[in-house]
Amino acid sequence: MTQDDMKKAAALAALEYVGSGGVIGVGTGSTANHFVDALATIKGRIDGAVASSQATAERLKKCGIPVIDLNAAGGLKLYVDGADEATRHLHLLKGGGGALTREKIVAAASETFVCVADESKLVDVLGRFPLPVEVIPMARSYVAREIVKMGGEPVLRQGFTTDNGNVILDVHNLKILNPVELERMLNQITGTVTNGLFANRPADVLILGTGTGVRTLK
Ligand code: 5RP
Repeated sequence: MTQDDMKKAAALAALEYVGSGGVIGVGTGSTANHFVDALATIKGRIDGAVASSQATAERLKKCGIPVIDLNAAGGLKLYVDGADEATRHLHLLKGGGGALTREKIVAAASETFVCVADESKLVDVLGRFPLPVEVIPMARSYVAREIVKMGGEPVLRQGFTTDNGNVILDVHNLKILNPVELERMLNQITGTVTNGLFANRPADVLILGTGTGVRTLK
């Protein structure tokens, strides 16, 4: 079974959390794309979806699923998204696709956050994958210097602008032993929009695709 098969299996298993009626939130990335494709098969059951990126909005539209603005949708029952790393405590590191800020907004507005991933994403300690931090462009150097003081090695993501018109610093060499605290500390740096730690609002359910089926952590 390939890694992509495992992503697909996890995404399919998340369909079980889709109720009847209402609007759901959908994340960004290859695993979230599998979820959009699966959602298309039951699209009659929902009123539409809030997308965490332009790319996901396009995919939803192509599948015939109405894309709803979060401000019009109000609170959401469900958000389904992938992750770059996840722990047994359901703390996540996200933003490899650069959609972290909108992802965090939709997750915050949702009652239940179901994270879907292949088993390789499960780690004991977050931080081997570089931590994305979205930054207002004029604050890029200042924020980078502050992150260096905290022990990180920020690298500007070249040629990339977020859907919000900002830049991303990918922070290497952080061993994230306290994700709740680090998420807060990074957000305190003026000029930071948000960072890719989802610890203060972790996932509620983690569905992992494995070589022998799906495994669910709650
Ligand atoms: C995008 C994300 C994705 O969820 C994360 O990068 C995982 O992607 P994939 O499902 O392609 O492995 O946070 O900003």
